[in-house]
Amino acid sequence: MPDPIDVNHWRMGGITVPEVEDYVYNILPARDEVLAEMEAEAAKKKIPIVGPAVGRIFYQLAAMIEARAIFEMGSAIGYSTIWWARAIAAGGQVIYTDGDPRNAERARRYFERAGVTSRVTLKTGDALELLSEEKQQFDIIFNDIDKEDYPRVLRLVPPRLRKGGLFVTDNVLWSGRVVQKKNADARTRAIQEFNRALYASPDFYTTILPIRDGVAVALKK
Ligand SMILES: C[S@@+](CC[C@H](N)C(=O)[O-])C[C@H]1O[C@@H](n2cnc3c(N)ncnc32)[C@H](O)[C@@H]1O
Repeated sequence: MPDPIDVNHWRMGGITVPEVEDYVYNILPARDEVLAEMEAEAAKKKIPIVGPAVGRIFYQLAAMIEARAIFEMGSAIGYSTIWWARAIAAGGQVIYTDGDPRNAERARRYFERAGVTSRVTLKTGDALELLSEEKQQFDIIFNDIDKEDYPRVLRLVPPRLRKGGLFVTDNVLWSGRVVQKKNADARTRAIQEFNRALYASPDFYTTILPIRDGVAVALKK
């Protein structure tokens, strides 16, 4: 017998009281067929997508600053990409990046079905390298790659973000493990270092939103 699917796999937990967490998710409007299918696929295959509560934050952030150029680092099957793509201003583009071409192929099919193909540019390879090759400044850079690389991402981002743009990072509370003082593993230490440096940076005004696994929103000064 295979293990039963945990439909809440992508919710993480551990940050807020479980009943409050349930409330935050139960109150959400239903998603369209494509996003709902992606959530089900993520649960089944244990793909760590941001989920709908965070997806809505992305939509709001992009809409609030009328973002037209978004660079996404670590896009997997394209779930978060679709939330960004649906929020961007007319003529805007979201750059999808992932190291795994199989993810990109799955994402491409989802983008077609979600009606966002013309708003997304797919790139495969190392997101850090792909971002360093960019000549333009972005309205939003979203960071969701391997956690050990977060400190490197922070060094790369400032010149590539416009003043008033947003640097958004997922998993900054790391299921609560960021509070560990001793015996923290390499990924936890990288996130701790990243959070400290982000708040200390003269380039950004930062807030951590304690939703799902923690989302850092940093406004470029
Ligand atoms: C947490 S998942 C992304 C989930 C996605 N943002 C969402 O919410 O729908 C992280 C993804 O980043 C990719 N990844 C990790 N490190 C990377 C890197 N340095 N460059 C490109 N992709 C990377 C992995 O292949 C994986 O698909």
